[in-house]
Amino acid sequence: MSRIAFVNGRYKRHSDAVVHIEDRGYQFSDGVYEVILVKNKNFIDEKKHFDRLDYSLTSLDISWPMKKNSMRQIMQELVYKNRFVTGIIYIQITRGVARRDHSFPKGIKPALVMTARRLPKSNDGDIKSGVSVITIKDIRWGRCDIKSVSLLPNVLGKQEARNQGAYEAWQIDNEGFVTEGTSTNAWIVSSHGVLITRGLSNQILSGITRLTLIKIATELNFKFEERQFSVDEAKSSREAFLTSSTSFLTPVTQIDGVVIGNGAVGLLSMRLLQAYHQYINSSEI
Ligand code: PDD
Repeated sequence: MSRIAFVNGRYKRHSDAVVHIEDRGYQFSDGVYEVILVKNKNFIDEKKHFDRLDYSLTSLDISWPMKKNSMRQIMQELVYKNRFVTGIIYIQITRGVARRDHSFPKGIKPALVMTARRLPKSNDGDIKSGVSVITIKDIRWGRCDIKSVSLLPNVLGKQEARNQGAYEAWQIDNEGFVTEGTSTNAWIVSSHGVLITRGLSNQILSGITRLTLIKIATELNFKFEERQFSVDEAKSSREAFLTSSTSFLTPVTQIDGVVIGNGAVGLLSMRLLQAYHQYINSSEI
């Protein structure tokens, strides 16, 4: 069965789904994106994703290509046409198509591409046994709060992780503090049992899974601190994990080869993951 994508107003088979060579996303990374988890045909945290998309678009002065409701209908149609109930929707909006010139062209329409795919079951094993991460220098720009398609440092970092047999690379700022993973947010549980993740700023993406887990952890009365933590603190932590819409909460059992806790998936991580599963299974559109 061919996968179906939505490209600038039309549903297309993937093999025919193309964009213009002068799309500014292609030439300048002049665009933004979202990845939304679909669970039993429900769009998990849809409002938060649309709010973040709005923030990214507004930050770059790109207008919405259509109303949110119309976009939502296309998302539903894509889930139907691609015949899955659990998967992801990818939305990409670029400034549009124009003759190559760095400054914003006048009078062009933003370009919209949406794809959908079944979520591979492959990360179940990672979640059960935990994964390893390496640490790398954070070489990204000063607006990591915008979910821009300009992901070259993230791509290089993820590949470095793969080259070293690791799942993810945690990026480190100039002061030795962990910012986030290349496509995930970073968390630890301190030696005193406090759940910690870095606070929001323009140095990290405001992950939707991160926001939801903070809410869940607060409801469960977990001790929680939103603050930066160093690589050394991470290595001596009791538990560590990473989060994203596609990797949920994935336990980290090694950082740069250093075993975290007793090397097994931590209890607090498991409790949070269970609660997160409950949350996504009970979410309604
Ligand atoms: N990545 N930090 C970065 C740099 C990310 O790219 C992502 C998401 C996250 C987690 O955000 P969320 O919880 O909203 O998925 C944090 C997506 C999944 C991606 O690029 O495929």
